[in-house]
Amino acid sequence: MSGWQGLLKEYAAWFDLAGVDEVVTLQEGNTPLLRADRLSERLGAHVWLKFEGVNPTGSFKDRGMTMAITKAKAHGATKVICGSTGNTSAAAAAYAAKAGLECVVLVPEGKIALGKLAQAMVYGATVLQIRGNFDQALDLARELTQHLPITIVNSINPDRIEGQKTGAFEIVDVLGRAPDILAIPVGNAGNITAYWRGFLQYYEAHRSTSLPRMWGFQAAGAAPIVLGHPVANPETIASAIRIGNPASWVPALEVVHESHGDIRAVTDDDILDAYRYVARYESVFCEPASAASVAGVLKFGVPEGATVVCVLTGNGLKDPDTALSSSARPPVVDATLEALMSELGG
Ligand code: F0G
Repeated sequence: MSGWQGLLKEYAAWFDLAGVDEVVTLQEGNTPLLRADRLSERLGAHVWLKFEGVNPTGSFKDRGMTMAITKAKAHGATKVICGSTGNTSAAAAAYAAKAGLECVVLVPEGKIALGKLAQAMVYGATVLQIRGNFDQALDLARELTQHLPITIVNSINPDRIEGQKTGAFEIVDVLGRAPDILAIPVGNAGNITAYWRGFLQYYEAHRSTSLPRMWGFQAAGAAPIVLGHPVANPETIASAIRIGNPASWVPALEVVHESHGDIRAVTDDDILDAYRYVARYESVFCEPASAASVAGVLKFGVPEGATVVCVLTGNGLKDPDTALSSSARPPVVDATLEALMSELGG
């Protein structure tokens, strides 16, 4: 049999799969690395977009979830839980359903994109909307594991980071080298940590001869790492990264230090401009949080001629509200040729 069989099989040599008899997969990964012609011209560099929105549940979380759910099942778990801004809950619900496990998700009421809420519900998770934000949801999920027989599948579960490191592998496999710069949105800071691990492991195994600088971008209203202190009431249009106290804060600082990188802030306006730009000029419809990576390189610039990969973490279809509210409302016209001609300037 040929064809893509999912990350755990494709990259089996790079994981510890001891005790795993059955891999839980939806054939995640193998996502496109698209050359961004307009962005490259605008920035005077070689810019590529790693579009994670085409994963089975529409975000990079599937990379971590195939591993987390596979391991949870192998260890005899029957129930998993996560706190989420939406994408983790969609992925957890889908992979748990595939594995025959129960799934509980805690999401901040009114603060997750509609498509993500719909996903968790349709995949059959128990969805609880809490009167609080993501940070509180994650704290409560952690606490519940002390009281109930339930496995947490947030990125504080090390299996999640292991799965997500494959994003870096795929980039090097396609480019034949590591990029000079890896630009990535930062929320809970798990993914920047995972990508760095992937680049490091490939480097140490001589699969690449260099390492990238890791450039993380937070939303200005939810930028605790940039500010150097937790943010009690984070606010941003990019609801996926509306996080005030990232769980992987310390590892992310280590990544920045080791890679000579940086974590900086982009405003909601920067994010929306980049969101519209990548759709309009690169034909990639990502979600607002994902566009933080592109917003960052547009805002701060990149060295001339550099090879830059921007990770676009999730699919724009998940958040129809932002898509509609950030575009002009289409006019309604009579169903006549004259009305159309007059509208189209004929
Ligand atoms: N982009 C998207 C679309 C996300 O959903 C997230 C995180 C991030 C970026 C940031 O990744 O947390 O590893 O730094 N979403 C989590 C969730 C928090 O619950 O879906 P990170």
